Amino acid sequence: MTPDRRVQELFGIELPIIQAPMAGSVLSDMVIAVSEAGGLGSLPCAMLSIEQTRSELLRIRAKTSKPVNVNFFCHRAPQVDRAREREEAWKRRLAGYYAELGIDPTTAVASSGRAAFDGAMCELLEELAPEVVSFHFGLPSDELLARVRRTGAKVLSSATTVDEARWLESNGCDGIVAQGWEAGGHRGMFLTEDIASQVGTMALVPQIVDAVKVPVIAAGGIADARGIVAAFALGASAVQLGTAYLFCPEARISAPYRAALDAAKDDATRLTNVFSGRPARGLANRLVREVGPMSELAPEFPLAGGAVAPLRAKAEQHGSGDFSPLWSGQAARLGRALPAGELTRRLAEETRALLGLAPS
Ligand SMILES: Cc1cc2nc3c(=O)[nH]c(=O)nc-3n(C[C@H](O)[C@H](O)[C@H](O)COP(=O)(O)O)c2cc1C
Repeated sequence: MTPDRRVQELFGIELPIIQAPMAGSVLSDMVIAVSEAGGLGSLPCAMLSIEQTRSELLRIRAKTSKPVNVNFFCHRAPQVDRAREREEAWKRRLAGYYAELGIDPTTAVASSGRAAFDGAMCELLEELAPEVVSFHFGLPSDELLARVRRTGAKVLSSATTVDEARWLESNGCDGIVAQGWEAGGHRGMFLTEDIASQVGTMALVPQIVDAVKVPVIAAGGIADARGIVAAFALGASAVQLGTAYLFCPEARISAPYRAALDAAKDDATRLTNVFSGRPARGLANRLVREVGPMSELAPEFPLAGGAVAPLRAKAEQHGSGDFSPLWSGQAARLGRALPAGELTRRLAEETRALLGLAPS
């Protein structure tokens, strides 16, 4: 159904559809459903401990023999001294909200809960050997990457510019996720910090396709068959959808998050750093409007999330998403509340129909 079958052949999957890894919102049940339907399910591990990652992966292995993707962040750790000062300033900026919600301002800043890929996670991959391993924010050290490759896994990472795509290819990626401006969640940018120059999916995909030899997977703002066909026309070999899968019952999201997604229009999102310190696209809520969307006070990734955590927890107890990251891309309006396996199959069928191909 694609102009080429490179991604299907690379990963051993039937459909050129990848469910995006979405840290904090996806666990094994969605991954199993998507992979069983013939797509590539992705387990995000950036917010999981080693034990949680192991048990999710073992559950996946027990429930499906189809290929799966396991995803990690690989940001550089923040410099502790500078970070401490900034965390204090950030906490002062948020002090009014602590007072309003009745939270003790002397509470120690919580850990941000987002860990970078390390040797312990690598050992787990060596033991459980997932078919695909993907990274966000570049790639891990040469030594760790070599170990991942020795497991036999195919390696992916996200590029937000042509330069990043070339860098990923020359550092050994087997495929590249071209992440356009429309995308929900964190921008995978790692060679630039300039959000004003970030590129939309329509312009990014064909330029990356022209620049690299490995297959390109289009991501960002794709949520139905029209977007998938458009991505193929731009030269993508597959698509990676995130926001569309947040509407599935398998998505582990809070009630206020789900309600905000249901109500989202095309212009509901902002690129914001207030939840983590790095730019990410989410639905505008109170914290984003009042403190962001981009704040110079936000400490380096991932530390900004620490001081926001108590606010988020308290507000969510009262059914409010005012202080929660509500990650979403610009095409939320196109989402459908279908089980993840059915969504995957329907997207494939609808794409075939739009391309004038016989149903499979
Ligand atoms: C809720 C959410 C969480 C995300 N978390 C991750 C993650 O953990 N790792 C990653 O590589 N990409 C992550 N992303 C980005 C996706 O991989 C992908 O680029 C994006 O969802 C595509 O745009 P779309 O949401 O418009 O489909 C996340 C996206 C969303 C919406």
